[in-house]
Amino acid sequence: MRSHRSFAMWQETLHISHQASLSFGRRGLILAAMLSLIACTASNPMEEYEQVTPVTRHEAETVASEYAPEVVARGAYLAELLACGTCHTNGALTGNPSADKFAGSDVGIAWSNPMIEKYPGVLYPANITPDVETGIGSWREEELVRLIQTGVDRHARRQLPVMPWPGYAKLHEDDARAIAAFLLSLKPVRHQVPANVEPGQKATSPFVHFGVYRSRKDM
Ligand code: HEC
Repeated sequence: MRSHRSFAMWQETLHISHQASLSFGRRGLILAAMLSLIACTASNPMEEYEQVTPVTRHEAETVASEYAPEVVARGAYLAELLACGTCHTNGALTGNPSADKFAGSDVGIAWSNPMIEKYPGVLYPANITPDVETGIGSWREEELVRLIQTGVDRHARRQLPVMPWPGYAKLHEDDARAIAAFLLSLKPVRHQVPANVEPGQKATSPFVHFGVYRSRKDM
Protein backbone atom coordinates (compact mmCIF):
# COMPACT_ATOMS: atom_id res chain seq x y z
CA MET A 1 0.00 0.00 0.00
CA ARG A 2 2.63 2.43 1.08
CA SER A 3 4.77 1.85 -1.98
CA HIS A 4 1.78 2.44 -4.23
CA ARG A 5 1.10 5.73 -2.55
CA SER A 6 4.75 6.70 -2.83
CA PHE A 7 4.70 5.89 -6.51
CA ALA A 8 1.57 8.04 -7.00
CA MET A 9 3.24 10.89 -5.11
CA TRP A 10 6.32 10.54 -7.25
CA GLN A 11 4.22 10.66 -10.43
CA GLU A 12 2.39 13.73 -9.15
CA THR A 13 5.67 15.41 -8.31
CA LEU A 14 7.03 14.68 -11.76
CA HIS A 15 3.88 16.11 -13.27
CA ILE A 16 4.18 19.31 -11.24
CA SER A 17 7.88 19.62 -11.99
CA HIS A 18 7.22 19.14 -15.69
CA GLN A 19 4.69 21.96 -15.66
CA ALA A 20 6.91 24.09 -13.50
CA SER A 21 9.84 23.74 -15.88
CA LEU A 22 7.64 24.77 -18.75
CA SER A 23 6.35 27.91 -17.10
CA PHE A 24 9.38 28.97 -15.03
CA GLY A 25 12.29 28.25 -17.37
CA ARG A 26 15.70 27.79 -15.65
CA ARG A 27 14.49 28.52 -12.15
CA GLY A 28 11.75 26.05 -12.83
CA LEU A 29 14.32 23.38 -13.75
CA ILE A 30 16.09 23.86 -10.42
CA LEU A 31 12.76 23.60 -8.66
CA ALA A 32 11.99 20.46 -10.66
CA ALA A 33 15.31 18.93 -9.65
CA MET A 34 14.63 19.72 -5.99
CA LEU A 35 11.16 18.28 -6.21
CA SER A 36 12.39 15.05 -7.80
CA LEU A 37 14.97 14.78 -4.99
CA ILE A 38 12.12 14.97 -2.50
CA ALA A 39 10.27 12.40 -4.60
CA CYS A 40 13.28 10.08 -4.36
CA THR A 41 13.35 10.37 -0.58
CA ALA A 42 9.67 9.74 -0.33
CA SER A 43 9.86 6.47 -2.25
CA ASN A 44 12.96 4.94 -0.62
CA PRO A 45 12.77 1.32 -1.81
CA MET A 46 14.71 0.13 1.26
CA GLU A 47 12.23 1.66 3.68
CA GLU A 48 10.59 -1.61 4.58
CA TYR A 49 13.79 -3.63 4.77
CA GLU A 50 16.42 -3.94 7.44
CA GLN A 51 20.02 -4.87 6.93
CA VAL A 52 21.14 -8.26 8.18
CA THR A 53 24.63 -9.59 8.63
CA PRO A 54 25.27 -12.09 5.87
CA VAL A 55 26.50 -15.54 6.90
CA THR A 56 29.75 -16.15 5.12
CA ARG A 57 31.16 -19.09 7.12
CA HIS A 58 29.69 -22.29 8.48
CA GLU A 59 31.23 -24.26 11.31
CA ALA A 60 32.40 -27.67 10.14
CA GLU A 61 30.00 -30.53 10.92
CA THR A 62 32.77 -32.75 12.25
CA VAL A 63 35.94 -31.89 14.09
CA ALA A 64 37.98 -34.16 11.86
CA SER A 65 38.98 -31.41 9.44
CA GLU A 66 40.53 -29.34 12.26
CA TYR A 67 43.63 -31.49 12.39
CA ALA A 68 46.46 -31.77 9.92
CA PRO A 69 46.63 -35.25 8.32
CA GLU A 70 50.23 -35.76 9.46
CA VAL A 71 49.23 -35.06 13.10
CA VAL A 72 46.36 -37.56 12.87
CA ALA A 73 48.71 -40.12 11.28
CA ARG A 74 51.22 -39.68 14.10
CA GLY A 75 48.41 -40.11 16.65
CA ALA A 76 47.33 -43.34 14.93
CA TYR A 77 50.89 -44.63 15.05
CA LEU A 78 51.24 -43.78 18.77
CA ALA A 79 47.84 -45.24 19.71
CA GLU A 80 48.91 -48.48 18.03
CA LEU A 81 52.30 -48.46 19.75
CA LEU A 82 50.78 -47.73 23.18
CA ALA A 83 48.15 -50.42 22.61
CA CYS A 84 45.11 -48.28 23.48
CA GLY A 85 43.01 -50.68 21.40
CA THR A 86 43.93 -53.76 23.46
CA CYS A 87 41.64 -52.53 26.24
CA HIS A 88 39.34 -50.08 24.45
CA THR A 89 38.12 -52.56 21.78
CA ASN A 90 35.31 -54.99 22.44
CA GLY A 91 36.53 -58.60 22.71
CA ALA A 92 40.22 -57.61 22.65
CA LEU A 93 40.74 -58.57 26.31
CA THR A 94 39.47 -62.08 25.60
CA GLY A 95 41.40 -62.52 22.35
CA ASN A 96 38.61 -61.82 19.88
CA PRO A 97 38.71 -58.10 18.96
CA SER A 98 35.71 -56.64 17.12
CA ALA A 99 36.11 -54.54 13.97
CA ASP A 100 34.87 -51.47 15.90
CA LYS A 101 38.29 -50.58 17.21
CA PHE A 102 38.37 -48.13 20.16
CA ALA A 103 34.58 -48.32 20.64
CA GLY A 104 34.92 -49.59 24.24
CA SER A 105 34.83 -53.00 25.88
CA ASP A 106 31.92 -54.98 27.32
CA VAL A 107 34.53 -57.07 29.10
CA GLY A 108 35.78 -55.22 32.17
CA ILE A 109 39.00 -55.29 34.16
CA ALA A 110 38.79 -56.16 37.86
CA TRP A 111 40.96 -53.85 39.92
CA SER A 112 40.66 -55.71 43.21
CA ASN A 113 41.58 -59.37 43.46
CA PRO A 114 38.68 -61.68 42.52
CA MET A 115 40.40 -64.57 44.27
CA ILE A 116 40.20 -62.77 47.59
CA GLU A 117 37.00 -60.79 47.18
CA LYS A 118 33.82 -62.41 46.01
CA TYR A 119 32.75 -59.28 44.15
CA PRO A 120 35.75 -57.22 43.00
CA GLY A 121 35.56 -53.66 41.62
CA VAL A 122 35.42 -53.66 37.81
CA LEU A 123 36.17 -50.92 35.27
CA TYR A 124 34.99 -51.12 31.69
CA PRO A 125 37.36 -49.52 29.14
CA ALA A 126 35.43 -46.58 27.70
CA ASN A 127 34.31 -45.97 24.13
CA ILE A 128 37.02 -43.56 22.93
CA THR A 129 35.55 -42.87 19.47
CA PRO A 130 33.96 -39.40 19.11
CA ASP A 131 30.32 -40.45 19.54
CA VAL A 132 28.73 -37.66 21.58
CA GLU A 133 26.45 -39.84 23.72
CA THR A 134 28.49 -43.00 24.31
CA GLY A 135 32.04 -41.88 23.53
CA ILE A 136 34.34 -38.87 23.75
CA GLY A 137 32.49 -36.75 21.14
CA SER A 138 32.02 -33.78 23.47
CA TRP A 139 35.55 -33.80 24.94
CA ARG A 140 37.96 -31.06 23.99
CA GLU A 141 41.48 -31.85 22.86
CA GLU A 142 43.02 -30.43 26.09
CA GLU A 143 40.72 -32.59 28.22
CA LEU A 144 41.89 -35.72 26.44
CA VAL A 145 45.53 -34.68 26.74
CA ARG A 146 45.04 -34.16 30.49
CA LEU A 147 43.37 -37.54 30.93
CA ILE A 148 46.03 -39.41 28.96
CA GLN A 149 48.89 -37.78 30.85
CA THR A 150 47.49 -37.37 34.37
CA GLY A 151 44.45 -39.65 34.58
CA VAL A 152 42.30 -36.67 35.60
CA ASP A 153 38.98 -36.72 33.78
CA ARG A 154 36.61 -33.93 32.80
CA HIS A 155 35.00 -33.93 36.25
CA ALA A 156 38.41 -33.54 37.90
CA ARG A 157 38.30 -37.17 39.09
CA ARG A 158 41.53 -39.11 38.94
CA GLN A 159 41.02 -42.46 37.31
CA LEU A 160 42.42 -45.65 38.76
CA PRO A 161 45.66 -46.65 37.02
CA VAL A 162 43.81 -49.54 35.33
CA MET A 163 43.78 -46.96 32.56
CA PRO A 164 47.59 -46.87 32.48
CA TRP A 165 48.06 -43.10 32.56
CA PRO A 166 51.20 -43.28 34.77
CA GLY A 167 52.86 -44.94 31.79
CA TYR A 168 51.78 -42.10 29.50
CA ALA A 169 52.65 -39.23 31.85
CA LYS A 170 55.98 -38.50 30.20
CA LEU A 171 54.66 -38.43 26.64
CA HIS A 172 55.80 -35.35 24.79
CA GLU A 173 52.99 -32.75 24.77
CA ASP A 174 52.85 -32.88 20.94
CA ASP A 175 52.52 -36.66 21.02
CA ALA A 176 49.66 -36.53 23.55
CA ARG A 177 47.96 -33.92 21.34
CA ALA A 178 48.44 -36.11 18.28
CA ILE A 179 46.73 -39.04 20.07
CA ALA A 180 43.84 -36.74 21.05
CA ALA A 181 43.57 -35.45 17.45
CA PHE A 182 43.56 -39.01 16.16
CA LEU A 183 40.78 -40.10 18.56
CA LEU A 184 38.66 -37.04 17.73
CA SER A 185 39.07 -37.76 14.00
CA LEU A 186 37.86 -41.38 14.24
CA LYS A 187 34.49 -42.39 12.83
CA PRO A 188 32.07 -42.12 15.80
CA VAL A 189 30.75 -45.52 16.89
CA ARG A 190 27.66 -45.69 19.10
CA HIS A 191 28.40 -48.23 21.80
CA GLN A 192 27.61 -47.90 25.48
CA VAL A 193 29.94 -49.89 27.71
CA PRO A 194 28.55 -51.38 30.97
CA ALA A 195 28.69 -49.12 34.03
CA ASN A 196 31.68 -49.55 36.34
CA VAL A 197 31.11 -51.84 39.31
CA GLU A 198 32.09 -50.97 42.91
CA PRO A 199 33.79 -53.64 45.07
CA GLY A 200 31.12 -55.71 46.85
CA GLN A 201 28.64 -55.17 44.01
CA LYS A 202 28.00 -58.11 41.70
CA ALA A 203 29.16 -57.49 38.10
CA THR A 204 26.62 -58.52 35.48
CA SER A 205 29.09 -58.24 32.56
CA PRO A 206 32.26 -60.39 32.30
CA PHE A 207 35.67 -59.17 33.40
CA VAL A 208 39.30 -60.20 33.40
CA HIS A 209 41.88 -59.64 36.09
CA PHE A 210 45.55 -58.83 35.63
CA GLY A 211 47.76 -59.75 38.50
CA VAL A 212 50.93 -61.37 39.76
CA TYR A 213 50.42 -64.82 41.22
CA ARG A 214 52.80 -67.12 43.03
CA SER A 215 52.32 -70.74 43.87
CA ARG A 216 51.72 -71.24 47.61
CA LYS A 217 53.58 -74.54 47.46
CA ASP A 218 56.95 -72.74 47.35
CA MET A 219 56.20 -70.70 50.46
C1 HEC B 1 45.10 -51.70 30.29
C2 HEC B 1 43.92 -51.22 29.64
C3 HEC B 1 43.92 -49.84 29.03
C4 HEC B 1 44.81 -49.32 28.11
C5 HEC B 1 46.03 -49.99 27.49
C6 HEC B 1 44.35 -47.98 27.81
N1 HEC B 1 43.23 -47.69 28.54
FE1 HEC B 1 42.16 -45.97 28.48
N2 HEC B 1 40.93 -46.65 29.92
C7 HEC B 1 40.96 -47.94 30.46
C8 HEC B 1 39.89 -48.08 31.42
C9 HEC B 1 39.58 -49.32 32.24
C10 HEC B 1 39.22 -46.84 31.46
C11 HEC B 1 38.02 -46.46 32.32
C12 HEC B 1 38.54 -45.88 33.60
C13 HEC B 1 37.44 -45.45 34.54
O1 HEC B 1 36.25 -45.53 34.19
O2 HEC B 1 37.78 -45.01 35.64
C14 HEC B 1 39.91 -45.98 30.50
C15 HEC B 1 39.53 -44.67 30.24
C16 HEC B 1 40.04 -43.91 29.20
C17 HEC B 1 39.54 -42.63 28.81
C18 HEC B 1 38.42 -41.86 29.48
C19 HEC B 1 37.15 -42.04 28.72
C20 HEC B 1 35.94 -41.59 29.46
O3 HEC B 1 34.88 -41.47 28.79
O4 HEC B 1 35.99 -41.34 30.68
C21 HEC B 1 40.28 -42.23 27.73
C22 HEC B 1 40.12 -40.94 26.93
C23 HEC B 1 41.25 -43.24 27.48
N3 HEC B 1 41.09 -44.26 28.39
C24 HEC B 1 42.17 -43.18 26.46
C25 HEC B 1 43.18 -44.13 26.30
C26 HEC B 1 44.26 -43.98 25.33
C27 HEC B 1 44.41 -42.82 24.37
C28 HEC B 1 45.06 -45.07 25.48
C29 HEC B 1 46.35 -45.35 24.75
C30 HEC B 1 47.34 -44.29 24.75
C31 HEC B 1 44.47 -45.90 26.52
N4 HEC B 1 43.33 -45.29 26.99
C32 HEC B 1 44.97 -47.13 26.92
C33 HEC B 1 41.85 -48.93 30.14
C34 HEC B 1 42.92 -48.80 29.28
